[in-house]
Amino acid sequence: MQDHLIIEGGQPLRGSVKISGAKNAGLVLIAASIMAEGETILDNVPRICDTEVMVEILLEMGVDIHWKEDGSLSICPPGHEIDCQTPYELSKKLRASNLFLGALLGRQGEAIVSLPGGCDIGTRPMDLHIKGVRALGAHVDIEHGYIYAKRREPCGSRIYLDFPSVGATENLMMMACKTPGSSIIENAAKEPEIVDLANFLNSMGAKVRGAGTDIIKIEGVSALKAGRYAIIPDRIEAGTYMIAAAISGGEVLVENVIPTHLHPIIAKLQEVGAIVRETDQGIIVEAGSKILRADIKTMPYPGFPTDMQSQMLALLALADGTSVVVENVFENRFQIVDELNRMGAKIKLEGHAAVVEGTRSLYGARVKATDLRAGAALIIAALAAQGETVIEEAIHIFRGYENIIEKLSKLGARIK
Ligand code: EPZ
Repeated sequence: MQDHLIIEGGQPLRGSVKISGAKNAGLVLIAASIMAEGETILDNVPRICDTEVMVEILLEMGVDIHWKEDGSLSICPPGHEIDCQTPYELSKKLRASNLFLGALLGRQGEAIVSLPGGCDIGTRPMDLHIKGVRALGAHVDIEHGYIYAKRREPCGSRIYLDFPSVGATENLMMMACKTPGSSIIENAAKEPEIVDLANFLNSMGAKVRGAGTDIIKIEGVSALKAGRYAIIPDRIEAGTYMIAAAISGGEVLVENVIPTHLHPIIAKLQEVGAIVRETDQGIIVEAGSKILRADIKTMPYPGFPTDMQSQMLALLALADGTSVVVENVFENRFQIVDELNRMGAKIKLEGHAAVVEGTRSLYGARVKATDLRAGAALIIAALAAQGETVIEEAIHIFRGYENIIEKLSKLGARIK
């Protein structure tokens, strides 16, 4: 796969784009499916690098998993125990491999997962995951960069999450589903992907209540039965195309979305002057006559999503006025700023805040994608920039955006 993206700016995006299944629902549902007896079929899983890595990890652990003709993903764990250690080489590529902690403890009471390396958006500990699985009766040792967890006295428990961590909530939901007794997760994450996981687990016979609120109650069951399940559309992919429409001066219909999942993004786009309409076919975003300034504070759902922060920086770089963007979820998610400033943006970092002084134009440059969403932000900036932008390490972008070159080209972008 080519590692550079080249974009000629100045072309307003017009037309419609079909949103793929949610990466962050697909990843956790692939992990959760190993807890079911029989063949799970997942529909609408995006074929992106991250899901392909999860497939490879399961293959290495002895699970029969393959993409079917119709695009669905078939996962059939064997009747006997599978290898409880996630392969290091593969799992270090993907933090979401840490979701096998809860899935393996739920399936067979033992898990060996590598502590995730610090990735480009800050150190990402697993203290909340470990505190939670210990509360559910697992004995946990941390050695040689691995978490060794073994279910000793499994019993339902009440767990309070200091921070509504998405991954910790998901790991604890999976383990608690197969832990005898009642469990309660307080201050749980409320993201739509959490609700999708709960619906998936319940479709297999689990007893999960309250997903989408900050209190999730789970009654342990002894077995889960495999079935077929379609995952939700990707609200971050949708938001990315909506911002691309706004910055490029175009008008785009975003199809196959769940509007409520997009409300924080729609509200912010309207605040910066875009015209956003919800129709039966999907959401239409039309660029406003100019981009107005706005302040942003990223928060856990239903606040403004941290995964849209970089994309908003690119948009606000061309706003009429100065904006302040505060990142409250990750402690180091502003790498994109240096790259945007190379394109003529005027962004200054003040601790957890980025001060964006709007400018009239951005200019094409050679820039580097530091993570998935930063890469998406560079595409957004390049669409509005004068001249040609070359984005290096574009592989990050292919991790989370299915068919992004085809989708943007169909909207009129000059990209290759
Ligand atoms: C999920 O990551 C998403 N990934 C991220 O999307 C998303 O940015 C993040 O949730 C927040 O919404 C997947 O779902 C695969 P967290 P996760 O645990 O679960 C701290 C993308 O671009 N924390 O909610 O790893 C942590 O350091 C990716 O699609 C602890 O301190 O996020 C961070 O500052 C990027 N201790 C904050 O919580 C813990 O034990 C949020 O992390 C766990 C987390």
